[in-house]
Amino acid sequence: MVTTTVGVIRESDPHENRVSLTPEITTKLTSQSITVLVEHGAGAQALIPDSEYEAAGASIVTRTDLFSRCDVVTCINAPNEESRTLMREQQILIGLLQPQQDAELVTQLCQRKVSAISLDLLPRQLSRAQSMDALSSQANIAGYKAVLVAANSYGRYFPMLTTAAGTSTPARVLVLGTGVAGLSAIGTARRLGAIVTAYDVRPQARGEVESLGAKFLKLSSVDSAEGSGGYARALTQQEKQAQQQELSDHISKFDIVITTAKVPGGPPPQLVTEAALDAMQPGSVVVDMAAGPWGGNVALSKANETVTVSDNVIVIGNDNLASDMAPAASHTYARNIAAMLRHVLADGEPSIDATDDITSATLVTHDGATVSPAVTVADDASAVVTSEGPAS
Ligand code: NAI
Repeated sequence: MVTTTVGVIRESDPHENRVSLTPEITTKLTSQSITVLVEHGAGAQALIPDSEYEAAGASIVTRTDLFSRCDVVTCINAPNEESRTLMREQQILIGLLQPQQDAELVTQLCQRKVSAISLDLLPRQLSRAQSMDALSSQANIAGYKAVLVAANSYGRYFPMLTTAAGTSTPARVLVLGTGVAGLSAIGTARRLGAIVTAYDVRPQARGEVESLGAKFLKLSSVDSAEGSGGYARALTQQEKQAQQQELSDHISKFDIVITTAKVPGGPPPQLVTEAALDAMQPGSVVVDMAAGPWGGNVALSKANETVTVSDNVIVIGNDNLASDMAPAASHTYARNIAAMLRHVLADGEPSIDATDDITSATLVTHDGATVSPAVTVADDASAVVTSEGPAS
């Protein structure tokens, strides 16, 4: 009997601590006669030693061996240059590949005829896709961690505390962008005792914010910016300026600002300007969860750095806070991967059905061509990324 071989690579980004499969999922796969190969040290940063994978039935191998033997390779981020040269025709690659940010990757996947599945393109509203929703599982963790990171840098209490020495006022927290990460941040900040206000451009966000006990900040500058698939659309230049101006008037009233606003397939909008940072009180903390290769929501924020700006305002830039909770994040991510593996392995063997809703939306490349409407490749084989974003 031919058995499918699934491989788990070690992430190459020094800021990435997660691993795409855990021993829990390895046990499930090996019990179905699927062979699992794990690159040496793949789980180390998530506190999973090689021996735990071996105990779950996996074999520990080198990266070269893994790519030469596996039918399916799982990862968190897109493979690095070295790994890309090892990818083989018909190999299935599953991860958060972010093809809309990496045209070169799309070209390479086409050239090598890899069937690449990117979980960030998942049609999240489909109920049968929800078990594969890695963006949500990771954003949930990141939103929680953002509040803890902010509290750690804040020199005062979050809750109102009454002691013999008097009463401390609760921290005032503003959350900008109330998708999965924002709602998680609101819940966490509320549980710590802060007074929380939140803002989003999608009108239906108001009910979600209020149901968590936070106040919704209503701006007059942008009425509604609902895009496709439940996502926000990019604002016009005029809307952006009006929004920044109006937000600036509010930001100085808060001790903590957590920004989570993203637009699929495009750069994140700047919501906190330098002038707004200047107006904040010394000791205020801003966490920019959108700070990454495409910029961020906060002027002066730097990806993976904490900088002190203006009058002692601390700006923390990090679009990968889930990596700071690698054991928990790997646990949930691996379950998302397991659900996608069930989807692409028919009777235990790889089977790509490009007519299926989930597959067609997430399949970046197959048989040397692009498939997902979010990504296309021009005739000259240089990748072109469309602005459609994830399918709804
Ligand atoms: P995201 O990470 O793409 O963006 C975060 C938030 O920022 C979003 O709420 C967005 O509306 C907001 N935003 C974007 N531009 C903004 C601006 N200029 N000003 C203020 N806010 C701005 O969002 P996420 O967490 O991926 O969720 C996107 C949508 O998908 C949400 O509507 C969410 O409820 C929905 N969703 C639906 C699911 C389902 O139906 N099962 C599962 C997960 C998410």
